[in-house]
Amino acid sequence: MNKPAAVIFDAYGTLLDINSAMARHATALGPNWPRISADWRAKQLEYSWVRSLTGPAHHEDFWLVTRDALDVTLARHRISDAVLRDALLDAYRHLSAYPEVPAMLRALRDADMPTAILSNGSPWMLETAVEAAGLAPLLDAVLSVEEVGIFKPDARVYALAERQFGAPAAEMIFVSSNPWDAQAAAHFGYRTIRVNRDDAPDEYGLHAMLMAELPDLSGLPALVGA
Ligand code: LAC
Repeated sequence: MNKPAAVIFDAYGTLLDINSAMARHATALGPNWPRISADWRAKQLEYSWVRSLTGPAHHEDFWLVTRDALDVTLARHRISDAVLRDALLDAYRHLSAYPEVPAMLRALRDADMPTAILSNGSPWMLETAVEAAGLAPLLDAVLSVEEVGIFKPDARVYALAERQFGAPAAEMIFVSSNPWDAQAAAHFGYRTIRVNRDDAPDEYGLHAMLMAELPDLSGLPALVGA
């Protein structure tokens, strides 16, 4: 395989463990917390897609989308603790990276493969999260959809990495745990790798489009020739 011009990562759920925010407050949330965390994520994504489809005047950044999604999720689960709500938002700003991520990024760096995040997150949100997870020195670029003012899976978002690295998508690798994101990246032209931590079933006919599917990111450097 030709050396990729860059390896581009989705952030939330791919490098950053989105469930780590609620996991840190599991005692306060109760044993149903994994369900509440999944509902939060589902609402967050729904709001991002509805805002994008409704049109530019309806765009709000991912932080506001995340906050609104948390508020409705807590209300649906009959949780009305304002201190807990603020603590969850703070935890979301400082999510943990999956354990294998720093070593994986270091291996790519050692092999002179440029890396970037391409995410729905707003610039400050991504900067805070990447700093908190200790990933800032290991990434060459952090690209936010705010540059184009519309969320994934709009094609303008996937074009941002082409501009950043001066290379066509076909010469780069895109890595995501989100099947909808992986399908859009593959459709755009990236060589795409899906991380499937939960052994979830295939969606969007991805198996026919992907370069590979991995159970976590530890095998990524070897796969891309680093
Ligand atoms: C992101 C979300 C959608 O980081 O996972 O773009």
